[in-house]
Amino acid sequence: MYDLLLKNARLFPMVQDAGEAPVRTLAVSEGRIAALGVPANTPAKETFDAAGRIVLPGFVDCHTHALYAGNRMAEHNLRLRGMTYEQIAHTGGGIHTTVQAVRIASEQQLVEETLPRLKTLRGEGVTTVEIKSGYGLDMENELKMLRAIRQLRRHIDMDIVATFLGAHAIPRGSNRGDYLAEVIEKMLPVVVNEKLAESVDIFAENIAFDVEDLRRLFMQAKKAGLNARAHTDQLSNIGATIAAAAHGALSCDHLEHASEEDVLAMHRAGTVAVLLPGAFYFLRETRKPPVEWFRRHQVPMAVATDLNPGSSPIVSLLTVMHMGAITFGLTAAEILLGVTRNAAAALGRADKIGSLAPGRHADFTVWGVPAPEFLLYQMGGLKPAAVFFKGKKT
Ligand code: NIG
Ligand code: FE
Repeated sequence: MYDLLLKNARLFPMVQDAGEAPVRTLAVSEGRIAALGVPANTPAKETFDAAGRIVLPGFVDCHTHALYAGNRMAEHNLRLRGMTYEQIAHTGGGIHTTVQAVRIASEQQLVEETLPRLKTLRGEGVTTVEIKSGYGLDMENELKMLRAIRQLRRHIDMDIVATFLGAHAIPRGSNRGDYLAEVIEKMLPVVVNEKLAESVDIFAENIAFDVEDLRRLFMQAKKAGLNARAHTDQLSNIGATIAAAAHGALSCDHLEHASEEDVLAMHRAGTVAVLLPGAFYFLRETRKPPVEWFRRHQVPMAVATDLNPGSSPIVSLLTVMHMGAITFGLTAAEILLGVTRNAAAALGRADKIGSLAPGRHADFTVWGVPAPEFLLYQMGGLKPAAVFFKGKKT
C-alpha cells in the first residue's frame, strides 16, 4: 500500500518540458514518488485532495550564502550613494565585514540566525537549498560554518546541500598564494574526511582568485571526489568559465560577462549556467548574462537567490524568479525549469530531485494559482497551500 496518494492534482512534472501531465494522481512510497496516474481510489495510508490545484516539483535554490551573521546595511547605503561593490571590497569591507561577524558568532548563533531564512524559503516552496561556507576564511571558522550547515539539517525538513567556498576572498593579513595553499592542503582534507561538503566553489574574479587558483583547487577537489562549481564572469571576464568547464564544473554562476566562447565551453562540458538576478539587481549592474547564447548553444539555465548579506539580501526565491523573467528576459518555462530540473542538475542531483517522476524524492508543492506562469506574473502575496518534503507535509 502506498504511504500517500495525491489526487485531483494538475501535475507539472517538468521532466521534458514545463507542460501539464495528462494524469491527476501521484503516489508516494517511503519518501519517493512511486507512480503517477494510478486510479484515484487506489488505497493509501493517507490521501491529499489537491482539489484541482497546481502541483509543482519542490523548488531547488541551488546557490546561496544563507548562513551568515549580522548584516551589511551600512555598505548598502554607501552603494546607494554611488560606491561600487569592488570599491567597498578594496577598502576592506564587503565580504570581510561578514567574515568578522561570522568569526565572533558561535556555531549555535549561526544556526539560529539562519533557520528563519530557511523557513521563509521553504514557505515559498523551496525543498532543497544549497548553502556555501566562505565567511570563515580560516580552518576553524570555515569548519564552524560547515558544521552549522550540517546541524541545520536537524532543525528543518528540507534538503540542505553544503558547498565548501573557502576560496571566497583572501583573508586580511594573508596573501593569495599562502591562503589558497591552506584551503587546498589543510582545509579541504578535513572537509572531505568529515564529509562536510559535496562540492567546492571559488570566487574567480579580479578582486578575488585567478584562473590558476581555480585549476589548482579543482584538481584537488576532483581527486578528493568532490564536485566543482565556480563564481565566474560576475564583474569581469578573466577566463575562469572556460577553465571551470574544462575541469568538468557542474555549474558556473553569475556569468554576466561570459563570452560566446565561454558558453560553448559550458555546452561541451554540460555545465549549468546559474543566473543570479538578485545580485544583478542589488549591485545595479547593467550588463546582463548572455541568455541568447545559452539558448542557442543549449546550456541549461538555473536561477537562484544568491541569498547573502552583501550582494543579494533577498530571502525570496519567488522574487528572484520574477526578476529573472523581467530583467533577464527568461520565459516562464525557463524560470520554472531553472528552479527545478536545471537547479537540481547544478547540484548534481537531477536523478533525485527537481522533477516529478517515479523514483524521485516526493518533494512537491500545491498552488492555488490559475497556471504556473502566474508565479512570474503577480509579485508578492503568493505562497503554496502545501509543501511536501519526502512525502510528508511540512
Ligand atoms: O555571489 N561574489 C561573491 N559572493 C557573493 C557575494 C558575497 C558577499 O558579498 O557577501 C555573490 O554575489
Ligand atoms: Fe554567490
